[in-house]
Amino acid sequence: MAPLEAVGDVEVYRDGVLTHEELVRRVKGRQALVVAALDKIDKDVIDAGTDLKIVANVAVGYNNLDVPYARSKGIILTNTPDVLTEATANMAITLILAVTRRIVEGDRLVRRGDWKGFSLDFMIGSDVRDRQLGVIGMGRIGQVVAAKAAQFGMKIAYHNPTPREFPGYQSMSLDHLLATSDVISVHVPLTPKTRHLIDRTAFSRMKRSAYFINTSRGAVIDEDGLAWALREGIIKGAGLDVYEDEPHVHPGLLALENVVLVPHMASATTETRAAMYDLVVRNVVSVLSGKAPLTPIP
Ligand code: DGY
Repeated sequence: MAPLEAVGDVEVYRDGVLTHEELVRRVKGRQALVVAALDKIDKDVIDAGTDLKIVANVAVGYNNLDVPYARSKGIILTNTPDVLTEATANMAITLILAVTRRIVEGDRLVRRGDWKGFSLDFMIGSDVRDRQLGVIGMGRIGQVVAAKAAQFGMKIAYHNPTPREFPGYQSMSLDHLLATSDVISVHVPLTPKTRHLIDRTAFSRMKRSAYFINTSRGAVIDEDGLAWALREGIIKGAGLDVYEDEPHVHPGLLALENVVLVPHMASATTETRAAMYDLVVRNVVSVLSGKAPLTPIP
């Protein structure tokens, strides 16, 4: 807070997510806005924020911001790339291992008192060694997930919207990746092009033994289609950190054992959040001091 207080009066909202009306009301007269994934910065907020110079998003993803409209008003937009790459990639790996080794299912069973004792054919999961991980989106996070999964002995296939070469990994079309991967992990930003990129048709192309992981944005997948695919045995399991309509989770998913559900917390470590806040503060201070932002949204 100290560096922010050195450049202006700071108002902090500590009671969860601001309603849209409240945000529109409070932005009046403010030069900087620090927001997170659920704060929708749309035309109403931007029009009300006539003094705004910067909107600093405490996230690498920025689908919550109306980027073209903010730019048209001369507002600088920043995000928090790099500092959360490791934590987010670790969450993807955690979800892969959690779902393939049935960790959460096992935990629930033990707590319910349903464990009858060790048995050789009980709680059998899947190994990841020599299995194909299909990474959709080889940006910063996708690349680190690929490198970590390779350490577990996984073979890496990837699909990137723009062609990129990664020696040792196999580039493939999306359809081929969906049809041949044992685990699929999504790492694309949410844009009009990627909304429902993974829909019922995509799930139908996957192996019946496939596991699906999403730590990007919920709306990149059709959650209803995923619930269907898991329920009908079209795929074997899933691990999700993000949802189409957070904090609501599709009721069809809540009823299933073969999906691990965590509440949008991939970057939630003390160290990573501190680094994100630090970057946000440096962006705001820089812009309010008349200098360039450190991490402008591209
Ligand atoms: C991000 O940085 O995009 C995380 O999902 C937190 O919103």
